[in-house]
Amino acid sequence: MKPLRLDEYEDLARRHLTADVFDYYAGGACDELTLRDNREAFERLRLVGRLLRDVSVRSLATTVLGTEISMPVMIAPVALQRLAFDDGELATARAAAKAATLMILSTLSSVSIEDVAASTRAPLWFQLYIYKDKGLTRELVRRAEEAGCRALVLTVDAQVCGKREREMRHRFQLPRGITMANLEGAGHGTLPNENSGSGLAAHVNSLFDPALDWNDVAWLIGQTRLPIVLKGVLHPDDARLAVAHGASALFVSNHGGRQLDTAPATLDVLESVVEAVDGRAEVYLDGGVRRGTDVVKALALGARAVAVGRPVVWGLAAAGARGVGGVLEILREELDVALALCGARRPEEISRAALF
Ligand code: FNR
Ligand code: LAC
Repeated sequence: MKPLRLDEYEDLARRHLTADVFDYYAGGACDELTLRDNREAFERLRLVGRLLRDVSVRSLATTVLGTEISMPVMIAPVALQRLAFDDGELATARAAAKAATLMILSTLSSVSIEDVAASTRAPLWFQLYIYKDKGLTRELVRRAEEAGCRALVLTVDAQVCGKREREMRHRFQLPRGITMANLEGAGHGTLPNENSGSGLAAHVNSLFDPALDWNDVAWLIGQTRLPIVLKGVLHPDDARLAVAHGASALFVSNHGGRQLDTAPATLDVLESVVEAVDGRAEVYLDGGVRRGTDVVKALALGARAVAVGRPVVWGLAAAGARGVGGVLEILREELDVALALCGARRPEEISRAALF
């Protein structure tokens, strides 16, 4: 029987993946408190439907930075998807196209920007890490532009790598034949051998720029005509700074609990960020979205759309593009029901009044 809920895809993935790969995808930092709280924050919040409203004609369609998507659910950037399924990001992009939603491709993708872009009609954003090597960073920006990516998502919560004890125990490494495809030309396609811990942490801590500051946001905006989305914002003051520095949108994100453990759940800080932005930029949320009702709760607190990370790789591991499509379809169906039972016909009709 096809999975009925996203965590059934997680169960399937657990069966398909080796322990080190499952733990890389599933894991969070330190005690994984933020990882758990991302989920529990949604479970703490209640929805109240409004009655006797004609919801016979409904649409989930919306736009993000002017790009139409079939529902306010995007695919979050997740690195190294070929660890889950051999086609990796190609399969995810196929599913994004079929679901008519947008995929955000990681800098650390295991398939190159060019190959993913050539394989799909899905709208793509490119998630960028700023390296100490600004020449490498500029090259990634140019490649994303030439591949037709419609925005750059600058991740700003990973200047150093969170302490991921699951990865450390496995001494996380890439199997032969799987690389960080975008970085091969720069000689960084494989992970450094790290005897005591995670090869990924060694990559991040040796190559990402820990000196990243707001000047780099201004620098990046000067490098490209693409809109910039800042990913990793949790504090309203940072939201104000992001807007002041020209960000077109923000992702309220704590990297799925993989960076600063004990950071607040994204849902718990969303409203304060939305208030700080005050309509001057679009605001999205990721972290712990697993149900259609979760999407409605994020919309009610002011997010324009959400993104899902782990569920996508669970679907990928279970059944490739078909699995990712199954994950997105479950979210679509649940969102449609939740919207209707809240008395709404479209995402923009959801307001804070939907919360109990
Ligand atoms: C991520 N995330 C991430 N974010 C980013 O900006 N660049 C990246 O390369 C990655 N890679 C990555 C790998 C894995 C295995 C995970 C689980 C996450 C974070 C991701 O974009 C997103 O913020 C969270 O995954 C959202 O939380 P959920 O949906 O996974 O709970
Ligand atoms: C991670 C990095 C790649 O969370 O963003 O694994």
